[in-house]
Amino acid sequence: MAMNVLSILDLSSEEISAIIEDAIRLKEDRRRNIPHPHLRGKTLGMIFEKSSTRTRISFEVGMFELGGSALYLNPRDMQLDRGEAIGDTARVLSRYLSAVMIRAHTHSSIETFSAASRIPVINGLSDREHPCQILADLMTLKECFGRLAGLNVAWIGDGNNVCNSLILSSIRTGMNVSVAVPPGYEPDEACIRRARAEGSVRFYDSPLEAAEGADAVYTDTWISMGQEAEEEERLAAFSGYQVNAELLKRASPECIVLHCLPAHRGCEITDELLDGPQSAVWDQAENRLHAQKALLVSIFGVGKKIN
Ligand code: CP
Ligand code: NVA
Repeated sequence: MAMNVLSILDLSSEEISAIIEDAIRLKEDRRRNIPHPHLRGKTLGMIFEKSSTRTRISFEVGMFELGGSALYLNPRDMQLDRGEAIGDTARVLSRYLSAVMIRAHTHSSIETFSAASRIPVINGLSDREHPCQILADLMTLKECFGRLAGLNVAWIGDGNNVCNSLILSSIRTGMNVSVAVPPGYEPDEACIRRARAEGSVRFYDSPLEAAEGADAVYTDTWISMGQEAEEEERLAAFSGYQVNAELLKRASPECIVLHCLPAHRGCEITDELLDGPQSAVWDQAENRLHAQKALLVSIFGVGKKIN
């Protein structure tokens, strides 16, 4: 098992399948109040350079439920904010903690941290990727359809961090990803090259064409954290890229709607779809907890398979 999960590609197809299987088992056992204290004595440090609701709370509750503990670390309260090198921070935290999860403005900060770290490092979102989100999404798709290979997932909106991890995940899962983004808002070039060469990604000018026959339609905010100053130009660029009832008519009748949240209701997605019968969004959010618990157990190598 990979020690660091900075990208969804740090996990093999087999590891992703095993994590999803364990996550589904952990979800069921949680419902039945069966405890899984596999991480007794372990402590996860959680560094958040940006806001978070789901990632912070699901990791914290997840560690607690696995018998370990989690520490919320705000860089503004640490010497990091006064200029202590991120590598030095990693060296010191490696002496106290069992693993670290980082949400950072720039992906290179997470790479610098993990290069100096002697403990596992998990990317809790960067400008490049959001692998923990995609693990929960893959779990949600598996629960809904019983398989991943061959599923058609349409991404409509901004070619951002979540989109990058989604298109890369096609390499590990055999899913086909159709992308419709406005010009200038394409996913990361290196991710596109890799997904084109080893996975399955196709680009469409029209959101309606990208959604044609889709098993899942996925969108995210048009204004990611840190892009608030671009609000006006982004709202203009993305008009016509809303996930709404008209678009969903083009998808498969069994199509589910995905959104990593937080949503800007009435912008990238309508209330009708977010709250409608085809929405898998709330399960997707819940699955962050189960998928990350399974990820943590596998990173510490104590799980093998949950039983
Ligand atoms: N989807 C997600 O990562 O949500 P948070 O920003 O609330 O953690
Ligand atoms: N693309 C969004 C995801 C939030 C979970 C952002 O980076 O803000």
